[in-house]
Amino acid sequence: MSQPTLPDRFDSVEAVEDFMTAPSDALVADLAKTPGDIIVLGVGGKMGPTLARLAKRAAPSKRVMGVARFSEPGVREALAGAGVEPISADLLDRAALEKLPTAANVIFMAGRKFGATGNVPLTWAMNVQVPAMVAEVFKASRIVAFSTGCVYPFVPVGSGWASEDVLVGHRDIHEGERVQVCLAAANRDPAVFEQPDDFVMDRAHNRHLAFGAGIHRCIGAGMARMQLRVVLEEILRRVPDISRMKSILRVKPEVSLEDGLKATIDWFRQESGSRPALTSAAQEHRTP
Ligand code: HEM
Repeated sequence: MSQPTLPDRFDSVEAVEDFMTAPSDALVADLAKTPGDIIVLGVGGKMGPTLARLAKRAAPSKRVMGVARFSEPGVREALAGAGVEPISADLLDRAALEKLPTAANVIFMAGRKFGATGNVPLTWAMNVQVPAMVAEVFKASRIVAFSTGCVYPFVPVGSGWASEDVLVGHRDIHEGERVQVCLAAANRDPAVFEQPDDFVMDRAHNRHLAFGAGIHRCIGAGMARMQLRVVLEEILRRVPDISRMKSILRVKPEVSLEDGLKATIDWFRQESGSRPALTSAAQEHRTP
C-alpha cells in the first residue's frame, strides 16, 4: 500500500487519523522483516494511539498491544476498534510490568514533560525509574525508546525572521526583523538584579536564566551544579592560598574571555612550580 498524497483539506479528525495511519511500502517491508509481536508501552499519550494503529495496519498478522492506564475516556475503545489490544497497567508498578505479555518488540513511549514542573519526584520516577524497570523486564526484547516527534524541520540558524509584525513583551518586532535570545544579557538585566555586573555569590534574589526557563529548562542543572561544586572544592584543596587571586576574580568589562582564560591557565601551569606572582596578562587586568 503506497501512502496517499496529502489532500487539500481534511473533513474530519477520523480522516486525518486514517491518513496518518496509512503505512508506506517501506514500513510494511520493514515490519515483514521484523519477527515477533509489538507492545507499545505508554500508548495513551498524544501519538501512541496513532503509532499503534499504524503498526497494526502495516502488519495485520502481528499481535499489536498497547499498554497505558487509559485514564482518558475513549482511547481504550478506539484502540480496540483498530485491532490493537489495549492492556491497562500502571508502568510504575513493577509487579504489573512483570505480568505484561512478553513481546519481541517493545516501543517505549512513556515519559513526563508537560506538567513536570511542580512534581519532580513523579517526573524522576517516570523518566528514570520506569525505563530502568522496563529494560530489566524486557531484557530479551528489541526496545525502541521514543523520544519526541519533531514537528518542524531543521533550519539554518541564520534563516529565520519575523514573518509579520508582532509584539513580544513590550517590544514591537517588525516583519523581516531577526530576534536572538541572549540569556547572558538577561542575567545582567539591571531591572531584575541589583549590581548586575558584580559577582555576588550569595545573592538573595537570583532568578537567573543560565539554565533556561519553562519546560525546556536544563535537565542537567543539578548535575552541572554538583560538578562545579566538586571543581571549586578541588581548586580550594589544591590552591589553599587562593585569596591571592581575589584581585582578578572581579568581572571587568574590558577583560576579554581569551585574556581571562590565558591568565588562569598560565597561573595554574606555574602553580606546580614555585608559584610566582600572577602572570603579566593577569597583572594587566588586576583591580587596584
Ligand atoms: C553549566 C552547565 C550547563 C548550562 C549553562 C546549561 C544550559 C542549558 C540551557 C540554557 C538549556 C535550555 C535550552 C532551551 O531553552 O532550549 C539547557 C537545556 C538542556 N540541558 Fe543543559 N546546561 C548545562 C549542563 C547540562 C548537563 C550537565 C546536562 C546533562 C547531563 C544538560 C542537559 C540538558 C538537556 C537534555 C537540555 C534540554 C532540555 C529540554 O529541551 O527539555 N545540561 N541547558
